[in-house]
Amino acid sequence: MSCKHDPVDPVIPVDPPIVTDNCDPDTVYFQNEVLPLLISSCGVAGCHDPGTASEGVILTNYASVIASGKVRAGNPGESDLIEVLTDDNPEDRMPPSPRQPLSAEQIAKITKWISQGAKDNACESTSCDTLNVSFSAHIWPVVQNSCLGCHSGVSPSGGISLTNHQQIASAASGGRLLGAVRWESGFSAMPQNGNKLSDCTITQIKKWIENGTPNN
Ligand code: HEC
Repeated sequence: MSCKHDPVDPVIPVDPPIVTDNCDPDTVYFQNEVLPLLISSCGVAGCHDPGTASEGVILTNYASVIASGKVRAGNPGESDLIEVLTDDNPEDRMPPSPRQPLSAEQIAKITKWISQGAKDNACESTSCDTLNVSFSAHIWPVVQNSCLGCHSGVSPSGGISLTNHQQIASAASGGRLLGAVRWESGFSAMPQNGNKLSDCTITQIKKWIENGTPNN
């Protein structure tokens, strides 16, 4: 009998995220809220994506975020990540000028996640409202969290800006937006470098488009 083994891939095993069934409004979840923000604002081509790894820092998954040494679990005050996000000097601040800084609300979210132990957590909401889909409650928060960092500014990715209702509606009108978030063949899978949006979110986007992309 042969004892030959298949060659072993030298990949370090990564624990899967801890998934909770119900989203607790007082908890910040890394996979739902923090990672999409880091990917779209920091893990972009030319910055902290795996291809560039500027200053050795990659911010596109939990293991690489922790390995960067920029996050001290439980201690946002000692975390370089928070320091660079809030630096007063636009040259030292991340994302650097001319990119927009993260909003106070977004920084507060990341700070809270670090205070809560910087865990690799995720939640799945048990209810999914697809009847009363509105732009302000369902579409805009997702775009802000998962897309805006890349699709804004002077040279938005793919030449597509998603900074307001009109621009998002226009990206949706030709079918590109839905094709991209559903990872359909013939479209570039979005969010780039990120996890697919949840089934609930994709259904809400589809409903909003079917309803005529209202600004509600
Ligand atoms: C890390 C950066 C990044 C993030 C995050 C990102 N995009 Fe993109 N997007 C790109 C780049 C780069 C392109 C153009 C290159 C390409 O087509 O692959 C693109 C292209 C697109 C296209 C055109 C796709 C096509 O095949 O015609 C759409 C629509 C789009 N993005 C929507 C989104 C939406 C919606 C989100 C959030 C859910 C998002 N993107 C998140 C970088 C990003």
